Amino acid sequence: LKLIILGPPAGGKGTACEVIKSQFGVVHLSTGDMLRDNIVNMTPLGIKVKPYLDKGALVPDDLIVDMVMDRLTKQDCRVKGWLLDGFPRTGKQAQALVNKEILPDAVLCLTVSNEAIEQRMGGRRTDPVTGITYHMTFNPPPNQQVQDRLVTRSDDTPEKIQIRLDTYYKHAADVMSHFPGMIKHIDANAQATRVGSIVIQTIDKL
Ligand code: AP5
Ligand code: ZN
Repeated sequence: LKLIILGPPAGGKGTACEVIKSQFGVVHLSTGDMLRDNIVNMTPLGIKVKPYLDKGALVPDDLIVDMVMDRLTKQDCRVKGWLLDGFPRTGKQAQALVNKEILPDAVLCLTVSNEAIEQRMGGRRTDPVTGITYHMTFNPPPNQQVQDRLVTRSDDTPEKIQIRLDTYYKHAADVMSHFPGMIKHIDANAQATRVGSIVIQTIDKL
């Protein structure tokens, strides 16, 4: 199984990917997570991309395309299949996949209202120990010990969310146009378990 998931910032892509990964055993490749790992580990790539993530701006296409292509050609992706989360995000990135004939079985496109996005972003917290993403209202941490160590992402501020949203809507149609016949629109405004089952049903029907 090879999938691309598209959706606005804080739209629930990562959350839906956890469900898909556990159901189908695919390798979940989140470019945002990969970049944040590089930043934490202060790799040469991490040092280059940090200013972009801090601003809520896109990282230059060539940096991200190389990173994703390297990863997609690894053995585990060939064996288990893959789920691209946060890539491609521009027409150029989409074209890079098409040029290499790396095509998904489907492109799942989450639609979420701006109001829901704001609520999801406002309450999002990440556990630096396990990498698990929580939401203070919709998916609270299991105990006080976990709650005390949760962190907020540096790009989850009202100004940066506006930049990220504008960037997403500016490129979304262009990205989708590279995958004719593969787009599956999913209404992702419901609660996470419901969205998870709609996503699984959509994949089952492919
Ligand atoms: P990235 O990490 O991809 O950020 P994003 O696209 O803005 O998406 P998020 O991770 O913010 O949200 P999500 O959709 O995964 O939502 P989540 O499941 O966490 O990219 C970050 C940055 O990296 C970019 O700005 C850019 O700088 C750079 N970058 C990455 N890829 C790039 C590329 N290809 N090219 C160039 N630059 C790139 O959910 C959000 C919250 O809501 C959570 O708290 C969750 O618990 C909760 N939630 C989830 N689903 C529901 C639901 N159904 N109901 C209620 N709450 C829910
Ligand atoms: Zn994410």
